[in-house]
Amino acid sequence: MSDILVHTEAGVTTLTFNRPDKKNSITAAMYATLADAVEAAAADPAVRCVVFQGNETTFSAGNDIGDFLNNPPTTEDSPVLRFLRAVAQFPKPLLAAVCGPAVGIGTTLLFHCDLVYAGDNAAFSMPFVNLGLCPEAASSLLVPQMLGYHRAAEALLLGEPFMAEAALEVGLVNRVLAPSEASGYAQSVARKLAAKPLSSLVQTKQLMKRHQMPMVMEAMAEEGRRFGCLLREPAAREAFGAFMERRKPDFSQL
Ligand code: COA
Repeated sequence: MSDILVHTEAGVTTLTFNRPDKKNSITAAMYATLADAVEAAAADPAVRCVVFQGNETTFSAGNDIGDFLNNPPTTEDSPVLRFLRAVAQFPKPLLAAVCGPAVGIGTTLLFHCDLVYAGDNAAFSMPFVNLGLCPEAASSLLVPQMLGYHRAAEALLLGEPFMAEAALEVGLVNRVLAPSEASGYAQSVARKLAAKPLSSLVQTKQLMKRHQMPMVMEAMAEEGRRFGCLLREPAAREAFGAFMERRKPDFSQL
């Protein structure tokens, strides 16, 4: 079965991370499928909204670390950057049902979603510094905006996970549910949205986002440049090597 399931029904496209044995970590090939699906959903007038989901125990462990080392995003057209742009600029409502770990892009993606429903087992983390990297997906802009600077510094400099209730408190998620209910609830909200007039949904989202959008695109481009440089530096090599070898990274000389 495919690592990304794409299913459209009743005006709702659902994109499911489906690589449970690797904690739904995302390869370049999966990003390409996701980017194609989001772009297609944007262009298809029969689609009113998109829902991202994993399963009841895992949303996504973020980038597949081995694949990321072998296929680093080197150009603007790389699948991950294409996906991020498509998500940031998606004109219709984006929803997510999040259970279990949501690491890296598993969390930063949510800052581009309009509605997020979390299982009470959801654990959000952005461990970019721990990997010798820097924020991506405009998270250097959006995380301080939503969490406030000091909580953002905790999330981005320390990279430690925070749980569903904390995410609810800062406004990153709309509602916390039992893990078995998160996906169904997101689907019911998506159906509600799909019954509304598309042009009003699109205009309303655009009005809410239009002042912010140029800053989001600028942040994403700048982060992409720095992320690409950091990826080639010794700290990232050490962090990724340590993950593959299942040991603690040693940054003492870096
Ligand atoms: N890339 C590649 N493989 C990954 C992965 C990732 N980001 N995350 C998990 N996996 C793989 C593990 O290597 C393991 O594979 P194996 O069974 O072949 O050994 C399998 O998925 C299960 O992972 P494991 O760590 O045993 O699961 P866990 O339940 O103990 O922990 C996580 C889950 C998500 C907390 C943990 O896997 C993790 O921290 N992953 C790395 C997250 C990360 O740093 N992502 C990059 C963000 S840019």
